[in-house]
Amino acid sequence: MPERKFSKQILCIGAGYVGGPTMAVIAAKCPQYKVTIVDINADKIGQWQSEKLPIYEPGLLEVVKQARGRNLFFSTEIEKNIEEADIIFVSVNTPTKTFGEGAGKSADLQYWEKTARTILRAAKSDKIIVEKSTLPVRTASAMERIVNSKENGIHFEVVSNPEFLAEGTAVADLEKPDRVLIGSRETESGRRARQEIVDIYANWVPRERIITSNIWSSELSKLVANAFLAQRISSINSISALCEKTEADVSEVAYAIGMDSRIGSKFLQASVGFGGSCFKKDILNLVYIAESYGLQEVADYWQNVIKINDYQENRFVRKMISVMFNTIAGKRIALFGFAFKADTGDTREAPAITVTRKLVDERARVIITDPQAIPNAKKDLQDILDQVEFEPDPYQAAQGTHAIAVMTEWKLYKTLDYRKIYAGMEKPAFVFDGRNILPHDELYQIGFNVYPIGKPSQSHI
Ligand code: NAD
Ligand code: UDX
Repeated sequence: MPERKFSKQILCIGAGYVGGPTMAVIAAKCPQYKVTIVDINADKIGQWQSEKLPIYEPGLLEVVKQARGRNLFFSTEIEKNIEEADIIFVSVNTPTKTFGEGAGKSADLQYWEKTARTILRAAKSDKIIVEKSTLPVRTASAMERIVNSKENGIHFEVVSNPEFLAEGTAVADLEKPDRVLIGSRETESGRRARQEIVDIYANWVPRERIITSNIWSSELSKLVANAFLAQRISSINSISALCEKTEADVSEVAYAIGMDSRIGSKFLQASVGFGGSCFKKDILNLVYIAESYGLQEVADYWQNVIKINDYQENRFVRKMISVMFNTIAGKRIALFGFAFKADTGDTREAPAITVTRKLVDERARVIITDPQAIPNAKKDLQDILDQVEFEPDPYQAAQGTHAIAVMTEWKLYKTLDYRKIYAGMEKPAFVFDGRNILPHDELYQIGFNVYPIGKPSQSHI
């Protein structure tokens, strides 16, 4: 046997928003391990090996460069790397199913199952398989049945280690997580496998922040964490509608209730709606699971979190139309931001997609600006490219428009020269602040008609 240079060989299948940053941080923190990330997408692997990573994430390139070529490797050779690995993290996408039974609700596990079968085919020795993707509760049992289906003496132990990072802050979240959760079977081999994963994180995460549980609790906790976070946003967004009717100010309400330590102040920022690849998908997944166990009331309760989010997006557009004299046909409207949140180029489930489509349905001409998300926006709007424009410079984007709508809370939008922007716009000029980040009083003084979320509007007309 050749001498092993590394004490553990870790493989991650799936080089996306989760696999890439998670493994880069493990490699940077643990030079004693060899960490390899594989993907079926060769272009993506090429980008991970370059100066222009496939995702925009502050601080990520520095972390990748710290370990790349030393103990962090990217590859398309999936089977060879499975054979060599001791521990395999699976971080493939698990989107909402778009076809057949459970379409629009349940998780599409086809990529997940393909991975299980590839592992089964390629493995020649015992492996620990780590569920990093977000999965319906009890998926580990299906995984176990697939990988242990060959009676060849190879033992696969499946553990759950859901990821809680948020995009835009992924590196900080991974370096200083609130907690790391590792679930396993309560058998001897299950507990041993769980300990192996604890040992990885213990290289940089304080031991009291690494928590262990049974495998089903771990799988379910991931869905529940996202459902609770999204529920807070829908709760405050529902109140924002009431504020607009009553002249209460949603920021003041959020501040007042957030001071109650039992409620807490985070995740109470009213907005045009939550986006991102996780919240809607994971709640739908929870709803589907609850329904499949006959728990209709539970399903209905969580479904309402999504219903309020849809309501909030629709309400935003309806407000735009009604204050712009009930017609926006032929009007130019600039969207400031397209990403689902600041500091990412990701546009999955971004409220800006729905808003753009609704504005275009009303025959408005939409000009989209965003510092990172224009390439993804072009893909999202492929079928209506002749009705939208893309302009990286916000000043140019606003030129000749009737209205600006803020879709993403990018810092740069707070400090633009709005006097200059106002001068180049059609009058009356409107601002719809879907993130409540702009200096509303100042804009009103300049001459804008200002419509925030959940706050009194300020209008000259
Ligand atoms: P992603 O789409 O960015 O990445 C998934 C990658 O898996 C893609 O590059 C794809 O090519 C690859 N892949 C698919 N099938 C494969 C196969 N058979 N073999 C090799 N590679 C394969 O997805 P993501 O955002 O990284 O999410 C991955 C998982 O993590 C999902 O389950 C998601 O719910 C969960 N998650 C995501 C986030 C987030 O912020 N994006 C946070 C926590 C958890
Ligand atoms: C989320 C979870 O936070 C993370 O733990 C999980 O691993 C993946 O899903 P992410 O979707 O990347 O992370 O971003 P997040 O910061 O949670 O924001 C999600 C959406 O909610 C964004 O559109 C954001 O703008 C919106 N949001 C967030 C609000 O509208 N108001 C808030 O107070 C907070």
